Amino acid sequence: MEKKEDNQQEEEQVVNPWEVSGKDGGKIDYDKLIDKFGCQKLDQSFIDRVERLTSRPPHVFLRRGVFFAHRDFNEILDAYERGDKFYLYTGRGPSSEALHLGHLVPFMFTKYLQDAFKVPLVIQLTDDEKCMWKNLSVEESQRLARENAKDIIACGFDISRTFIFSDFDYVGGAFYKNMVKVAKCVTYNKAVGIFGFTGEDHIGKVSFPPVQAAPSFPSSFPHLFSGKDDLLCLIPCAIDQDPYFRMTRDVAPRIGYHKPALIEASFFPALQGETGKMSASDPNSAIYVTDSAKDINYKVNKHAYTGGQESMEKHRQYGANLEVDIPIKYLSFFLEDDAELEHIKKDYGAGRMLTGEVKKRLIEVLTELVERHRTARAAVTDETVDAFMAVRPLPNMFD
Ligand code: TYM
Ligand code: TRP
Repeated sequence: MEKKEDNQQEEEQVVNPWEVSGKDGGKIDYDKLIDKFGCQKLDQSFIDRVERLTSRPPHVFLRRGVFFAHRDFNEILDAYERGDKFYLYTGRGPSSEALHLGHLVPFMFTKYLQDAFKVPLVIQLTDDEKCMWKNLSVEESQRLARENAKDIIACGFDISRTFIFSDFDYVGGAFYKNMVKVAKCVTYNKAVGIFGFTGEDHIGKVSFPPVQAAPSFPSSFPHLFSGKDDLLCLIPCAIDQDPYFRMTRDVAPRIGYHKPALIEASFFPALQGETGKMSASDPNSAIYVTDSAKDINYKVNKHAYTGGQESMEKHRQYGANLEVDIPIKYLSFFLEDDAELEHIKKDYGAGRMLTGEVKKRLIEVLTELVERHRTARAAVTDETVDAFMAVRPLPNMFD
């Protein structure tokens, strides 16, 4: 959406909900992003505090800095420490049949937060968004939303604390009132500044951001949070979604609501390298939860960009460049054993371990993850989806 200028000498880094690319085709500079967006760095003190408050080891995505930025997460932890609860809000834009591993990152993390803090969760499926952006029919977007809900449920969410909704089905009533309150506070110029809309974009796109904002406010869910207007909201997502929530946080105090807090992840990169996020549009850049063991083997061996040297002699002499190596990056997301990861990095970096060996270990790790997911998803029936999506109270959601 953001227009690239032809006369620019170098391509600036672009991160928004529609495009993620590093400067001059290089890596994403996350520190710069924190500066530009005005969020805060999630430092070790937070990780220690989460461990203390939840009495369980911090999730590997926290230990390894996958979740690296936040807004007001300290306020959530302060409230929790005082004995006040909060709720979690995350979402998915159903644009493809199957999720890829990058999409699993926020959902796996949200599941950990739900278990660790014992709090309710709302998951928004923005079928309206994808209908407008991907030019899908209303019916097709709704079908994809239900398919994606199965993958999301397979991440293990607790049905007694989780409400999943599709915008086409749920928007109305109190939710719609909040959308209108938000919309009235955002000028067209402001929306252009945040999202880069142009005169060619249809007005459906321009009108969408309040839909993603509304679930940040407990009063949008009267069947869950009636009488709890002060309940705080924490949103786990990757940092591409930050523009929506910058807007939301800007508006919140003006309509008498708390600003939602955020905990934000870096991107699980494409197989081709760390210049953007894994994206569903290029099948060879992404590993899907539906890929077979054979697909994973092929994709990793054929397409994963590595920092290994071109010949065995050179590799033994110089070792691999871990900074650009995708198998190492992927292992740092999904290989849970800290000692094994350190060992691989040391040996591979020194040239004692070869690229093929690292890839082989990665293939094992990913195949196991995808197999586990497949088994869990096979157990999710249409009735399960209906049950998660039923508009119903969750009486024990804070217990
Ligand atoms: P969507 O469907 O594009 O992505 C769903 C979630 O996955 C994150 N994500 C990634 N995380 C790590 N690595 C990647 N390569 C990667 N690709 C995507 C996204 O940041 C997101 O958290 N408009 C949203 C739906 C939405 C939403 C929300 C998301 C509605 N409300 C509140 C987060 C929080 C969307 O289309 O996400
Ligand atoms: N807008 C997101 C996308 O285009 C989907 C989404 C909706 C979402 N609500 C969310 C993502 C909440 C994270 C958190 O992909």
